[in-house]
Parts: sequence; C-alpha cells; structure tokens
Amino acid sequence: MEIKNVAVIGAGAMGLGIAQVSAQAGYQVSLNDISENGLEKALKAITKSLDKSVEKGRLAAESRDVILGRIKTTTDLAEAVRDADLVIEAVFENLALKQDVFKRIDQTAPQQAIFGSNTSTLPIAAIAAGTGRLDRFVGIHFMNPVPLMKGVELIRGRHTSDETLRISLDFVKSLGKETAIAVDYAGFIVSRVLDAMLNEAVKCVMDGNDPEEIDKAMKLCCNFPIGPLALIDLVGADIVLNGLETMRGDFGDKYTPAPLLQQMVRGGDLGRKTGRGFYKY
Ligand SMILES: NC(=O)c1ccc[n+]([C@@H]2O[C@H](COP(=O)([O-])OP(=O)(O)OC[C@H]3O[C@@H](n4cnc5c(N)ncnc54)[C@H](O)[C@@H]3O)[C@@H](O)[C@H]2O)c1
Repeated sequence: MEIKNVAVIGAGAMGLGIAQVSAQAGYQVSLNDISENGLEKALKAITKSLDKSVEKGRLAAESRDVILGRIKTTTDLAEAVRDADLVIEAVFENLALKQDVFKRIDQTAPQQAIFGSNTSTLPIAAIAAGTGRLDRFVGIHFMNPVPLMKGVELIRGRHTSDETLRISLDFVKSLGKETAIAVDYAGFIVSRVLDAMLNEAVKCVMDGNDPEEIDKAMKLCCNFPIGPLALIDLVGADIVLNGLETMRGDFGDKYTPAPLLQQMVRGGDLGRKTGRGFYKY
C-alpha cells in the first residue's frame, strides 16, 4: 500500500509538528483537534516554523505556500480520517481517551488504513484493543520538537504485522528521519531509560544535591545536551510523573516516582509551563 493521505489527530505540540513534517515530505495532511482554537494556533505555529526556514534560506517562499496548501484542518474526526492511508494520533497521554478516539476512527477510516499512536509510554496493544485492526496498529513515537529531532521510535505491538512495520519504517524514512524499533512494554526504550534517569536525578535533589550541580555534572561529565532537571522543567513534572506511574504498572517499584516529584506536581511546580519547577522562569 502506498501512503498519500495522512490524518493527524490532536494538534498540540506533537500533532502540529507531525503534520508539518508530513506535509514537507509531500503528503496530504488532515489535521484534527476538538478545539477550533487549537487548530488555528497549530496552523500559526507551522507557518512560523516554515517562515523561519524561508528566512534562513533553507526553504523557498513558494515551497512554504505549497506545504501549507497540503494541510487541511477540521474538528470533525470522521471527516479527518475518511481518506486516510495512515492515521497518527497525538491526543493527551490518557489510555481511555486514546482508546475512545481509535474506536471511533476504526468505524470511518478506510479498511486498509494503518493506525499509529504517538504515545510516549502507553502499551500499543492496550490502545489498539478496541479496534478491529491489531495487525495494522503500530507505535510511531516522534520526539519534541518534531521538525528538529532525527529519531523516531517505532513500537511493534504483539499483533503488528511485518507489512505494517515495513510501511511505517518507509514512511518515517520518507520524512528524512531514522527509526529505532522497540518492543511493546510501557515506556518502550526511550521513556523507559530516560524517565528512570530523570527520577534518579530528582532523588539526588532529595539527597541534598543542588539542581544546578546535578545538571552541570550530567552536561559536563556525560555530554548531555541538557541537564536532567532542566529537562523535567521543559517536559513538565506532571508528564514525567504520569509516565513513571505507567511504567510502574509494567516494571514495579523501581519506577515509583520520587516523593519530591509528587510534591512538586501537587504544588503546581510543573516547570516552564507554570513558571517554576527546579528553576524559576
Ligand atoms: N510533548 C512531548 O515532549 C512529547 C514527546 C513525545 C510524545 N508525546 C506524546 O504525544 C501525545 C501528545 O502530546 P502533546 O505534548 O502534543 O500534547 P498537547 O497537550 O500539546 O496536545 C494534545 C492535543 O490533543 C487535543 N485533543 C484532546 N482530545 C482530543 C480528541 N478527542 N480528539 C482530537 N484532539 C484531541 C487537545 O485539544 C490538544 O490540542 C501524548 O501522547 C504524549 O505523551 C509528547
């Protein structure tokens, strides 16, 4: 099967990036969100990102208009997926919500269409459970910010077919990105390894280490581009906490969130988005 039409469900930080890189690679994109305002903001963000490329001489002004012309937006889920060859879901990280979205899409998307979820931690088989296409279901985990990050984690569910995996691999390659293939346990490879490290960094703060010293140590001594605590502030303490809770379900107590992380989330110290986390913004 050849992919021509891509539907992206959820036009937040990830969905808009996925829509942008898909349109840049020549796909017709249908971008869906429950919020009209969210769709407007997404289109503005995509335009701004493309404008920057034009300013830097990496993209011709005409190409920007062609790319934008490939993206249609709609709040109607059925309409968004009607002609889709590939559906990529990027709604909030909530299992019940994702299951509900896919159950509804399953009824209107073409039979042969492949379903992909951009979940960071939730097992793919659980998200796919309510659909009639376990063999055509895969995890396509893009990184943030999507246009800049080279790697995409592909997650093969227990019933994902070879054909689905191959088509998904080719699709990611066509975006100019590279894949790593992960087995379908909570957190896959990236979140499983990363969040364990982030949790340990929070425990180092609890043990009396200064956040700045922790970040400095990991940047200077391990060549990290960003310190773990600055990264939690960037991603959001609530998101990291949520991921750890999901992985605790599969792997037990070693993923128990550090008490300080729980306390910070209760106190609204989520990082950049609330103006305070391990640092002040
Ligand atoms: N932000 C990251 O760094 C990152 C990185 C990798 C993966 N992810 C994953 O990507 C997914 C999306 O994350 P995000 O950061 O873009 O979230 P976000 O909060 O920025 O955006 C989510 C969007 O989904 C929309 N939405 C909610 N319910 C919907 C529905 N029923 N139908 C259509 N749209 C709906 C919301 O209106 C919102 O615009 C999550 O599963 C997250 O775990 C996030």
